[in-house]
Amino acid sequence: MSNMLQNYIPQLIHQSNGKGIAETLAFIAQKFPGKATFSSSFSYEDQVITDLILRNQIPVTIFTLDTGRLFMETYSVWSSTNERYQTHIQPFYPENTRLEQFVAEKGPNAFYESVDNRKSCCYIRKVEPLKRALAGRSVWITGLRAEHSASRNELQTFEWDEANQVIKYHPILHWSTEEVKKHINEYNVPYNPLHDRGFVSIGCAPCTRAVRPGEDFRAGRWWWEDSSKKECGLHEGIAVPEPAA
Ligand code: ADX
Ligand code: SF4
Repeated sequence: MSNMLQNYIPQLIHQSNGKGIAETLAFIAQKFPGKATFSSSFSYEDQVITDLILRNQIPVTIFTLDTGRLFMETYSVWSSTNERYQTHIQPFYPENTRLEQFVAEKGPNAFYESVDNRKSCCYIRKVEPLKRALAGRSVWITGLRAEHSASRNELQTFEWDEANQVIKYHPILHWSTEEVKKHINEYNVPYNPLHDRGFVSIGCAPCTRAVRPGEDFRAGRWWWEDSSKKECGLHEGIAVPEPAA
């Protein structure tokens, strides 16, 4: 399906050339009023972008997908971020009937039993709520970084998301971990203390562990699965079929 929005991508690439991230975010907010939104999981990366948006008062909305299985620490960063910037980050929740059915049938920890169960859980708790969060939006801003995995290394700063029919913008795609840390320290941005305990990429508590020095950045996510399957469907960019009920 073609969409006129796609045609803005070359212009956005051109406009952002040589500009800072705050300036590019402000340009996007002005070009797509009320239609640019940022998804935060309260990771190191996401906190940098939240800080850039809120410190510069850029009119981009910020939402989070609360799966109901996040770390206690993640809720604390959410809360301190709301306080620090005097803001209200918008949560999106899984659709209750579907989640109730799934957990009733499969139990609370079904994700450890099969890749299918894990993908269904991610679909119900993240992918479907994401669709609602992006409905009617034009630009979806994320904190993806190329360094995190081989597949992310192939991403473009601006790209078309066919599944959600939005332009995706990854402002810090090519930042190093050091650059991220430097920004967090320089602006005294609240961050998830799990990052100080070896957690690199932080998702749901039962599906995330710390990584050892030298281990792959994604090694701490769904560690019991083959590495080829380790994406939750948020960033697949293709129409993810709904799992059978
Ligand atoms: S995931 O696909 O493996 O879960 P990852 O944790 O690396 O993603 O985060 C990459 C980007 O996806 C984040 O910068 C953020 O924009 C988005 N994201 C991931 N999880 C969430 C969440 N729970 N709520 C909102 N955005 C999220
Ligand atoms: Fe479910 Fe784990 Fe996916 Fe979270 S990361 S939605 S708990 S399978």
